[in-house]
Amino acid sequence: MNKKTIRDLEAAGKRVFVRVDFNVPMQEGSITDDRRIRAALPTLRHLTGQGARVICASHLGRPKGRPQPSLSLAPVARALSGLLRAEVAFVTSCRGEEVARAVDRLQPGGVLLLENLRFEPGEEANDPALARDLAAWADAYVNDAFGAAHRAHASTAAVAALLSPAVAGLLMEAELEALSRLLSGAASPYLAILGGAKISGKIELIENLLERVDGFVIGGAMAYTFLRARGVATGASLVEEDRVDLAGDLLARAGRRGVPIHLPEDHVVARSLKDDATRTTPDAAIPDGLVAGDIGPRTIAAYARVIQGAATVLWNGPMGVFERSAFATGTREVGEAVAACPAFTVVGGGDSAAAVEHFGLGDRFGHISTGGGASLEFLSGRQLPGVQALDDREA
Ligand code: 3PG
Repeated sequence: MNKKTIRDLEAAGKRVFVRVDFNVPMQEGSITDDRRIRAALPTLRHLTGQGARVICASHLGRPKGRPQPSLSLAPVARALSGLLRAEVAFVTSCRGEEVARAVDRLQPGGVLLLENLRFEPGEEANDPALARDLAAWADAYVNDAFGAAHRAHASTAAVAALLSPAVAGLLMEAELEALSRLLSGAASPYLAILGGAKISGKIELIENLLERVDGFVIGGAMAYTFLRARGVATGASLVEEDRVDLAGDLLARAGRRGVPIHLPEDHVVARSLKDDATRTTPDAAIPDGLVAGDIGPRTIAAYARVIQGAATVLWNGPMGVFERSAFATGTREVGEAVAACPAFTVVGGGDSAAAVEHFGLGDRFGHISTGGGASLEFLSGRQLPGVQALDDREA
């Protein structure tokens, strides 16, 4: 990585502003998945262990520049305190007198969490005034919020220019290293397993991977758009009508490059995705009036065989509506196959990371990204503003 990291930072005694991504799912004030908080612990422990005064800041949800009690980070401060086994101070804003006092009280090795950055309209606007206020709390900047690195916001972009050094945290470093291995020098055969509802959000990803992978395995509703492009009946399943031509074009381009795109050979179908009365189709055609919600058993077996032979696997997106048990088998079995595979395996963030957690497959992958949109953009070949803003390592 050509960016400086916290290993390049003399943190002892310094006030360090650490941008983390504590955008965690919550239900009625309770955190339902604390992976992103746990993922930041190595950086926080490294800094507190060196005697830094740590000022953490994050966004939570999309409150659009206004305080919204249900999106307060107060429950996250309590969870972080439990995970660190140390007191974590919390303030109800990210600027102003209350923060100034809390920063003054912070002892070496102490941790303070600021309130949701997106309660300030200046955060998403990458506002220099907010960035100046945030920079005033600290002597150095650390970005460990890989999940938010694709956003050019005040706490991920503008503030980095105001503090020196501005370096990557350990999570940021691990994410960039793992995902970079998928863009250059990946061991062959390299397989990309793509799923989820839509092709539209993954066009750049597919195009970028087309030059790098040895094959694609496609599941989820995006498979139906590809099947339609091949002239296969898709019944009442979700198809992006305005992307069928593009899907056909991608199939043709992959064909010319000799890169196979594996599509479902059978499906689990029902009258609706809320219906538990499912059946399996005998082939890839989906009968009129029926919707597909998962890949079928023949497809699972075929995909498992392809996965078994891979040396590098990227898995991004579920194979079906895995949250419903009637349509969960494909995602679970493909997840099991990837987990069992001796390859270098990476799970893209977002829904596929949630699926891994859902099926308890947690520790069995080379890397599980904490960034949904960020990993998608990185693997699509885009620069991430939150990374670009950090100090370059001297050559
Ligand atoms: C995420 O959950 O992908 C990140 O925290 C970024 O959140 P955002 O999409 O609301 O910017």
